[in-house]
Amino acid sequence: MNGIFLTGTDTGCGKTCVGVALAEAARAQGLRVRVLKPVETGCEERNGALVPADAIRLAEAAQDRRGLDLICPYRLRLPAAPDVAARKQGVEIDPARIEKLYHEASAQADLVLIEGAGGLLVPLGPGLDMAGLARRSGWPLLLVARARLGTLNHTLLSLEAARTRGLRVLGVVVSQTTPELPDAERANLEGLLARLPVPFLGELPFGGRRLVPELDPGALLDALARA
Ligand SMILES: Nc1ncnc2c1ncn2[C@@H]1O[C@H](COP(=O)(O)OP(=O)(O)OP(=O)(O)O)[C@@H](O)[C@H]1O
Ligand SMILES: [Mg+2]
Repeated sequence: MNGIFLTGTDTGCGKTCVGVALAEAARAQGLRVRVLKPVETGCEERNGALVPADAIRLAEAAQDRRGLDLICPYRLRLPAAPDVAARKQGVEIDPARIEKLYHEASAQADLVLIEGAGGLLVPLGPGLDMAGLARRSGWPLLLVARARLGTLNHTLLSLEAARTRGLRVLGVVVSQTTPELPDAERANLEGLLARLPVPFLGELPFGGRRLVPELDPGALLDALARA
């Protein structure tokens, strides 16, 4: 088992930023990293091609040069939920195709980082949501939460959704998506940490490229092996 499925409490909570930090930390340890962003919405069109910004950032951080068809097979234009964006584009998201890409990436890497879209219950199509896509990977989740009011509720709801679906969670990382963290929100965050039923794995400071405390991808892999 060598993959981690990055999910979040929400869209825009910092999944890509945390993924980039993890990919860079793993590479600094000499690990071979492969990335997947199976479904990306809100892709801009440039020169007739849809450009998946998250997938490209992750691939650069990981130095994964396999090409976008293997990293981000579903590139969707509409900045909407994946099932809505896919329907609009006349595309059907095939989980078997994505599962094949999990295996391909896994066979070539020490660490595979997968970024979901939005949160766990985001629909991808009839009978399929992001939690289902995570389950097909067989890899544990790392939940990214935003350092902001409301996060306590979103985080605990996400963890409960993971638990009731039998998905393992390695831990929670908090991303500071705004420059200032008011005292009330800092206190709120401390309240969250006190209630977490899974490990707190660190915080990504605003504009930071490394987690604090630094997260050792090698140690994460060991945790994966034990999981
Ligand atoms: N630690 C951070 N420091 C600075 N900016 C951050 C941080 N975390 C997130 N952001 C900013 O917040 C926004 C959303 O972050 P990011 O793209 O990582 O979220 P996401 O969960 O991957 O979103 P999506 O659901 O669209 O994939 C971006 O503009 C990003 O630059
Ligand atoms: Mg993202």
